[in-house]
Amino acid sequence: MPAADRVALVTGGSRGIGFAIARRLAADGFAVAISARDPKGVASAVGRLEKLVPSARFAGTAADARSEMDQKALVDFVDETFERLDVLVNNAGIGDFDSIEKLTPERFRAVVETNLLGPYYATYFAVPLMKKGDGGFIVNVGSLAAVNAFAGGSAYNASKFGLLGFSESSMLDLRHQGIRVAAILPGSVATEFGHSHGDREHSWMLSSDDVAEAVADLIRYPDRAIASRIDLRPSRPPKK
Ligand SMILES: NC(=O)c1ccc[n+]([C@@H]2O[C@H](COP(=O)([O-])OP(=O)(O)OC[C@H]3O[C@@H](n4cnc5c(N)ncnc54)[C@H](OP(=O)(O)O)[C@@H]3O)[C@@H](O)[C@H]2O)c1
Repeated sequence: MPAADRVALVTGGSRGIGFAIARRLAADGFAVAISARDPKGVASAVGRLEKLVPSARFAGTAADARSEMDQKALVDFVDETFERLDVLVNNAGIGDFDSIEKLTPERFRAVVETNLLGPYYATYFAVPLMKKGDGGFIVNVGSLAAVNAFAGGSAYNASKFGLLGFSESSMLDLRHQGIRVAAILPGSVATEFGHSHGDREHSWMLSSDDVAEAVADLIRYPDRAIASRIDLRPSRPPKK
């Protein structure tokens, strides 16, 4: 298979925000690789993406964000399939919301390992591949929970506050290597992530496509500039 012109990797691309980002970047001309834990979910998503954007090339593999070895294998898979990597979107994430008295070490670890260590592993292994090409762009999908703590959010807030710090610090390191890093902090998005969706009660929420559009915009900024953090809010939430 010939090397692709521009290649994006979207973690957690099998549904929700990651799926919308994969579709949007493909429509912009990227070959797109996706990952998630469930191999059937990945295969089904690749099939749907191929139908939605027939002009684009897609590939997918199962990889757990919590596993260093899986994240290394994921970047190797992208290298073997497309021979380069231009954009990494660290999107895979979970939420688990409960009082600190009820959040067991296992539950807390699952959130922090997925939402913070996962993006670190993927970034660590992706940077050498990006540097072999023309540099790149890393987008970390954070949350407004990265700047607003709330009761029951200790694991999620810790993971997303941490991810924002990681994003800003790695931006300062990597811009000198031709790699730009940005964090996008969406408010409530209608996905399977802890919400029922599609009903009228949630019609004020952001859609996954809104987030995907913002990611595509970020990447289109001129090389000279980095919008290193985007707070993306619903414009008409319920009045408090
Ligand atoms: N929905 C919101 O309101 C909202 C708001 C702000 C930020 N966010 C952030 O946006 C990101 C995506 O959320 P979403 O709403 O699209 O969630 P979602 O619909 O639940 O999708 C999550 C995706 O991540 C994958 N995933 C979960 N754990 C993983 C792991 N350990 N390793 C690899 N993949 C994993 C899932 O596939 P598998 O289950 O097969 O692994 C799935 O593809 C998350 O980082 C979330 O924190 C969401």
